[in-house]
Amino acid sequence: MTRIRKVGVCGAAGTMGAGIAIVAARAGFETVAYDLSSDALSQAAENTAGFFEKSVARGKMSKSDRDAVLARLTSTNDLADLGNCDLVIEAVYEDPKVKQDLLATLDATCADHTILASNTSTLSITEIASGCSRQDRVVGMHFCLPAQLMRLIEMSPGVNTSDETFQAAWAWTEAVGQVPVRTQDKPGFILNALLVPFNNEAIRAVEAGVAEPADIDHAIKAGLGYKMGPLELIDLVGLDTQVRLCEAFYPITLDPRAAAPALLRRMVAAGRLGRKSGSGFYNYDDQAMYGS
Ligand SMILES: NC(=O)c1ccc[n+]([C@@H]2O[C@H](COP(=O)([O-])OP(=O)(O)OC[C@H]3O[C@@H](n4cnc5c(N)ncnc54)[C@H](O)[C@@H]3O)[C@@H](O)[C@H]2O)c1
Repeated sequence: MTRIRKVGVCGAAGTMGAGIAIVAARAGFETVAYDLSSDALSQAAENTAGFFEKSVARGKMSKSDRDAVLARLTSTNDLADLGNCDLVIEAVYEDPKVKQDLLATLDATCADHTILASNTSTLSITEIASGCSRQDRVVGMHFCLPAQLMRLIEMSPGVNTSDETFQAAWAWTEAVGQVPVRTQDKPGFILNALLVPFNNEAIRAVEAGVAEPADIDHAIKAGLGYKMGPLELIDLVGLDTQVRLCEAFYPITLDPRAAAPALLRRMVAAGRLGRKSGSGFYNYDDQAMYGS
């Protein structure tokens, strides 16, 4: 079975990639964070240092452990630096062409034994792997947001993924302290097959005037015991990301509930992307704001 010692993360300046790099480095793996822009990587490195600073301040980690984790985590915008990784996890844009092109380049760059994993939320692992000569060493590894705090990883083999690759990737998720769950290579796996339509329905309820966002979230939390309501969750995920999820998911499923709601698109056009832009269904002075 492939022994995983060094891990590469592609899209490591993004929401998911930065968290995945933290998971890998924190668990003791030498980790290389790759993204396109060195400015974005520097910003991500600053955020990561801030994350560990808080862990130290809260007494969850010693300063020497923090220093050791940060020393294991390096950044690059040169893909060749991933060449000797044993596992490379991609968390780039949810766009089949972007992912296929990246995997084909990784296929040509990485050592023969390197396992390539995709963090796609909605796309097919088999299709993402289709341009690679190593389709047996490509696997789905879907982390949850925020990756450094959530434990679930949905693990899905593509049609050509070997058992050995799947087992090695599964063992690695356990080695980093995550909780793997096996799913088939089906659109949205478990979580997003349920969540994308559900979250869209919550947006449509706002648009139809059924209730205020805070009341919808409150009902879901108080009535179903969820920790977070759907509109709070969309603000965390990013409204632009929700649009991208819909655009990837709807053409595959033709489920009308998966089509991006008009209100979601209007809010994205208005720059209300959720927490990252300071406002979405909520602003972060706690006042609900949406619509026009
Ligand atoms: N946001 C979520 O809640 C969430 C949850 C689970 C999985 N995902 C999946 O994770 C992936 C990334 O989503 P995100 O929300 O982190 O996106 P994001 O837009 O925050 O980050 C994407 C990053 O990828 C980089 N990138 C784009 N093309 C690249 C390339 N060719 N090479 C290297 N880097 C490249 C971008 O510069 C950016 O930093 C998607 O597949 C998404 O479906 C997202």
